[in-house]
Amino acid sequence: MFSDDAPAGEAPCDERPTGATGTVPTTLWHGRFTGAPADALAALNDSLPFDQRMFAEDIAASRAHVSMLAAVGLLSPGERDDIAAALDEVEREIAEGAMVWAPSDEDIHTAVERRATELCAAAAKMHTGRSRNDQVATDLRLWTRNALDELTQLVVDLARTLARRARQAHETGLRLPGYTHLQQAQPVGLAHHLAAHAWALLRDVERLGDARRRTDVSPLGAGALAGSTLPLDPSLTAAALGFARIFENSLDAVSDRDFVADALYALAMTGVHLSRLGEELVLWSSAEFGFVTLDDTFATGSSMMPQKKNPDVAELARGKSGRLIGHLTGLLATLKGLPLAYNKDLQEDKEPLFDAVDTVRLVTLALDGLMGTVAFNADAMAAGADDPFAAATDLAEWLVARGTPFRDAHELIAGLVRQALDGPDPSSRPSRLAALVRAHPDLGAEAAQLLTPGSAHVRRTTPGAGGPDAVAIQLERLEAALEAAGAVGG
Ligand code: ARG
Repeated sequence: MFSDDAPAGEAPCDERPTGATGTVPTTLWHGRFTGAPADALAALNDSLPFDQRMFAEDIAASRAHVSMLAAVGLLSPGERDDIAAALDEVEREIAEGAMVWAPSDEDIHTAVERRATELCAAAAKMHTGRSRNDQVATDLRLWTRNALDELTQLVVDLARTLARRARQAHETGLRLPGYTHLQQAQPVGLAHHLAAHAWALLRDVERLGDARRRTDVSPLGAGALAGSTLPLDPSLTAAALGFARIFENSLDAVSDRDFVADALYALAMTGVHLSRLGEELVLWSSAEFGFVTLDDTFATGSSMMPQKKNPDVAELARGKSGRLIGHLTGLLATLKGLPLAYNKDLQEDKEPLFDAVDTVRLVTLALDGLMGTVAFNADAMAAGADDPFAAATDLAEWLVARGTPFRDAHELIAGLVRQALDGPDPSSRPSRLAALVRAHPDLGAEAAQLLTPGSAHVRRTTPGAGGPDAVAIQLERLEAALEAAGAVGG
């Protein structure tokens, strides 16, 4: 009754068929079945609960398809307009929450077609030359393209906030110890540290853009798997939907979910970056570090311990990355054993993608707010940055600049460090190191100058280094890259 070559019902739209008359079938595929689907099958099979969020994309793709059918002579202009009006009405009903879903609505494609056909008999021609297999791939590509654009902007926004805080930190000369192995290593500007996170996010923006480019291919016109005997023109639907390209192979068009995996990888990688930033904020807000004070609007309290101020936003940025990684690996596992072409397993593509997009949106917005409001504690940072031991490499390099082989210089300074660390009073270790340097015949007063506060920060001048002169150049480049990234995706 619902197949493409069946009489399509020429009733104008004011003669609305209704479900009660029996003109609308129980399912779109019930024709060859005698029994109704079991409840347990419907519960497993139905994707409407989660794919209804693609309703706007589904209707946009149907509009494009219907226009194409009219352009190639498979629908009359009147039928095209009637179906378009019915689709407008379905879109309005769903957007306003007025849509009455039917038990037979197994997915958004079924539901839109069922309702459009109730509103206008000509909509029974809407599925001409189309399958849910090319339809769902089209809808999901449209949805993913929009989502990638939105998230690209949010990630750019967070990177801009980091760059703005970096610029402020640069202008006020804030510095902190840089770490390796989470041990204080060499001092860097706070601007340098914040900018490092911004550069990572800029790579995410590139990856999101790469995913977008591979998403931007129209599969509509591939049919169930092998194209059509009807004179369809896939380039018309692709152009109407703003796709950059059309599919090359109908089997590939309906089987390909690489774009979902690409998006999930880009989002997982973004999540990993957000997690690493979160982890540092957790550390930095601890009493032991004391580098930052979280604004009250982005911190939480304890229900038991009145004194607590907790970094939940940063912890969730760290914690949520787990599910992002899980979504990527889960989808890859789903895809890896599938024969061509469409298999129902592919329905498992949507929930991980939707959740990954929602998760990255939540975390990015919250971290943006946190980073925009966090206070940096200059004294706590400087105490670590200006520790004379953090200038030990500088002492060795001072000797190297005067001809000593680096290995020998390293050994000499390591010996002084060892001596300075020996002794009962930890608080006098820094001054002991300075005294040892001053007294050493190969070093002396000039070398001891390297241990004065700020020196080791300022003297890191090589390209991309953490000292203020190099950071000034870097920030210009970062700000220009962010400016350019603002145009990505759109
Ligand atoms: N709900 C399905 C999905 O998400 C739509 C495609 C169903 N196609 C089919 N031939 N059963 O993948």
